[in-house]
Amino acid sequence: SDPELVARATAAKAQLGDRVFVLGHHYQRDEVIQFADVTGDSFKLAREAAARPNAEYIVFCGVHFMAESADILTTDQQQVVLPDLAAGCSMADMAALPQVEEAWESLADLDLTEGTVPVTYMNSSADIKGFVGRHGGVVCTSSNARRALEWAYQQGQRVLFLPDQHLGRNTAVLELGFSLDDCVLYDPHKPNGGLTAEQLRDARMILWRGHCSVHGRFTLDSVNDVRERVPGVNVLVHPECRHEVVRAADFVGSTEYIIKTIEAAPAGSAWAVGTELNLVRRLALANPDKQVMFLDRAVCYCSTMNRIDLPHLVWALEELAAGRVVNQITVDAKTAHQARTALDQMLALPG
Ligand code: 13P
Ligand code: SF4
Repeated sequence: SDPELVARATAAKAQLGDRVFVLGHHYQRDEVIQFADVTGDSFKLAREAAARPNAEYIVFCGVHFMAESADILTTDQQQVVLPDLAAGCSMADMAALPQVEEAWESLADLDLTEGTVPVTYMNSSADIKGFVGRHGGVVCTSSNARRALEWAYQQGQRVLFLPDQHLGRNTAVLELGFSLDDCVLYDPHKPNGGLTAEQLRDARMILWRGHCSVHGRFTLDSVNDVRERVPGVNVLVHPECRHEVVRAADFVGSTEYIIKTIEAAPAGSAWAVGTELNLVRRLALANPDKQVMFLDRAVCYCSTMNRIDLPHLVWALEELAAGRVVNQITVDAKTAHQARTALDQMLALPG
């Protein structure tokens, strides 16, 4: 990275001292991640944000829904900054509150809301988390989806899972032992989600039709290809991948799990990793005694994660050092209160 920008970021951060705490998601660029005080998956970063009440500013190097969650979990005095406001998440954008409310009304018309528990992936806007909190549900991340669903099925017999169909299906089928027929796909662009009353009533898992465009690129062919090219390779993927990909993989888990699994692997082992490319490249560099490669031949960054680059980080830090808070992410008090119920429920899950 540009040495002048590195020097400026270092100076601004030093000037701010303990007043600033920088969080970095594992998908961030190298030039950014070097300035993170803590790196992590979505769950770890949410906990870290909540555990820093003395930092005046939390600079979140990640995407918008993560910064919103940090604002909800921090005190009213703390300010959360997202260095580029265009760092959104296309998956989170696939579930808008009016659509989710309409879906809930369709379920209510069929008398199905009673036994249905809404569960949202962390990758959703604060108002979706607020909706889930209002209706007695829970937030989950890729590292606790199983425990969150187990909790949900203690509260009711059916789950409305937002917005990632793949995480929902993969967890229900591969971890809870449901059949694919127990899951139905709810298309928000069709009346009643494109489902009959009977399908909705019989479903144990109503999956919102959302997905991650980055992880959606990995296919069964990617897995078969690499197994042919590299005999003995271990295939390790994120649960946002399609069901057939996760089913064909050897290991599945969150970004933090992916890192720990490779760190603990024996020297000489080969790993094909199905997740975002910044992370896979860093893993390859950090584990030169192992063969770490990208699962697909096509290059695959998360374009919104990549929007946070060193120039944006330098700008945000220098503005803060000059006493100006830029790109602050705030969630209104009512939404934050409701969303916090669902986030606290997640943080209270056992294990
Ligand atoms: P985790 O880091 O929680 O595994 O999530 C991955 C992701 O897609 C974040 O947007
Ligand atoms: Fe969203 Fe996928 Fe990017 Fe994660 S990797 S921020 S889910 S688009």
